Amino acid sequence: MKVIIDTDPGQDDAAAIMLALGSPEIDLLGITAVAGNVPLALTERNARIICEMSGRTDIKVFAGADRPLSRPLVTAEHVHGKTGLDGPNLFEPSFQLQDGHAVDFIVDTLMNEAPETVSLCPIGPLTNIALALQKEPAIAGRIQQIVLMGGGYFAQGNITPSAEFNIFVDPEAAAEVFACGAPLVMMPLDVTHKVMTTKSRVDRIRDIDNPAARALVEMLVFYERFDEEKYGTDGGPLHDPTTIAWLLRPELFQGRMCNVEIETTSKLTRGATVVDWWGVTKRRKNALVLGDVDADGFFDLLIERVANLG
Ligand code: BDR
Ligand code: CA
Repeated sequence: MKVIIDTDPGQDDAAAIMLALGSPEIDLLGITAVAGNVPLALTERNARIICEMSGRTDIKVFAGADRPLSRPLVTAEHVHGKTGLDGPNLFEPSFQLQDGHAVDFIVDTLMNEAPETVSLCPIGPLTNIALALQKEPAIAGRIQQIVLMGGGYFAQGNITPSAEFNIFVDPEAAAEVFACGAPLVMMPLDVTHKVMTTKSRVDRIRDIDNPAARALVEMLVFYERFDEEKYGTDGGPLHDPTTIAWLLRPELFQGRMCNVEIETTSKLTRGATVVDWWGVTKRRKNALVLGDVDADGFFDLLIERVANLG
């Protein structure tokens, strides 16, 4: 499976990247960074740090958009810490960012690879993907699938009562992506709030005892404190790696094809994902919306694959 991960790391983004790097089925063509949890200068650096922690300095990392399409950037240091990747000791990565813009890399890759052989996994705001669609609309017909973490239906929002962070930050970009016509898989909060980093699961990652797992545990211990306090749970939701898990083991998830539209104009519900779960409109079913997951199966997969990392 050829995959591009578009990301704003983020400790849960790190778990997604590690899951991909530890999975022999996935050929990670590149990582494209976007502004989101923290500004772009940190997200592109964090992406390189995560690759290096995983023993993979050969991965191509590109920098993309430093702000949403038409709004000021909103960040989430209150969740992820000042660096976006608080927890482990961070270091200056030994390998360079690629020359060229992330959006050009996405477009060129999709235009040069065989049609419908490359999947995009956006796990941050959708700015880079929307810019790529604007630059070369023909990519929409060539994308195998877009498997994104974003939105919520029954679970509603996390950054506002009605919006999930990735969609809230750049709702105009999200609207373009959901309208683009490419096959879409949406991993909303409804799923990610079922994969909790409980103490016993984090202990199992600690038991792997390789450098990537040790760094991941330090990230998760920092990252879960915010959500534990907010939700009163043992651990916090591990959002982003569910996208990669779906590529690897779709049978772990359940959902249905729905129409999904994005609220862009309301101040109150900016970035809400309006999911027609019950099929009450005749609008085009543009996304497979996941709603349930085998959480133990998900963590078994994550632990098995992080153990593969050198
Ligand atoms: C999403 O927002 C970010 O803070 C996380 O990395 C995840 O992609 C969850 O709402
Ligand atoms: Ca993210």
